[in-house]
Amino acid sequence: MILVTGATGHVGRAVVSSLVSSGHEVAALVRKREAGQGRLPRETALRVGDYEDASTLKAAFTGVDRLVLISSDGAADAVTRHHANAIAAATAAGVRHITFTSIVDIGENSPFYYAPAYRDAERRLAACGVPSTILRCGLYSDFILDTWLAPASGELVLPAGQGLVAPVSRDDVAAAVAAVATGAHTSRAVYTITGDRALGFNEIAACYGEATARPLRYHLCSLSEYLASASARLDEPWPQAFSSLCASIAEGRYGGVSRDFAMLTDRQPESFRDFLARATSAMPAEG
Ligand SMILES: NC(=O)c1ccc[n+]([C@@H]2O[C@H](COP(=O)([O-])OP(=O)(O)OC[C@H]3O[C@@H](n4cnc5c(N)ncnc54)[C@H](OP(=O)(O)O)[C@@H]3O)[C@@H](O)[C@H]2O)c1
Repeated sequence: MILVTGATGHVGRAVVSSLVSSGHEVAALVRKREAGQGRLPRETALRVGDYEDASTLKAAFTGVDRLVLISSDGAADAVTRHHANAIAAATAAGVRHITFTSIVDIGENSPFYYAPAYRDAERRLAACGVPSTILRCGLYSDFILDTWLAPASGELVLPAGQGLVAPVSRDDVAAAVAAVATGAHTSRAVYTITGDRALGFNEIAACYGEATARPLRYHLCSLSEYLASASARLDEPWPQAFSSLCASIAEGRYGGVSRDFAMLTDRQPESFRDFLARATSAMPAEG
């Protein structure tokens, strides 16, 4: 049996659907049973547990062969604790393999708010004694669209310098996770999951303008300007998380393009242009 955490979320749900449709026995970790009912394929066994409560995780992971640990979100100290709880519970429950969604930028000198949390999780995985496969994921195309492009009007104001990113859609991340979770690709301990091209924010803004007929121009701002404007709109930790992410992008930490996605799935990742065309087709044109 393969158990998928974060199964009510975007990536987790897509992983569950993919595994069920390829005939695997799948369980889903949900915080509330009702949240899983109707949203996941009916063949999915629901296991209730919370990353905050290690005892619920150990019970939920009992009898599971392979765990897909979709990373947690929120304040970094909670994220660190959640991953630690899940890895300890999987070890105690006798899980035989863990697939974990990490991030491409876990460098010791990275300014990114979440880098220490993911370094900690990767260290725990290496030390826990359970074989694991880590997928270091680039920025989600969906994240760029939802967080930065769609809310912008005319100008995309970010402190990302001339840094490049190689966006990958959540659906493609899920496809890569599902390929690893079935056990066909465990020869390497770490895979890097990115899109097929690295783009600067000038090009990202232009792509959005073409897809939506809402022209957008990238305007570089300072970190402190971004932090001030994000703090007026968003609760912590997001202003800090997003500004430090931009600092990391500006330092060139997100520009790498990996071929691991194609190797794992036997197809090319969806391009950012195609993603935008698909994701924005329901949005009304401006004017
Ligand atoms: N690379 C990127 O660009 C990027 C961007 C954003 C996020 N991420 C990471 O990628 C992960 C997956 O993305 P996504 O879009 O699928 O996220 P999502 O839709 O927000 O889903 C998050 C999932 O985690 C579950 N969860 C949250 N707290 C939990 C807890 N205490 N115990 C058990 N489950 C808990 C949620 O359950 P409920 O339904 O009960 O809330 C949900 O199923 C995120 O969690 C984050 O770590 C990466």
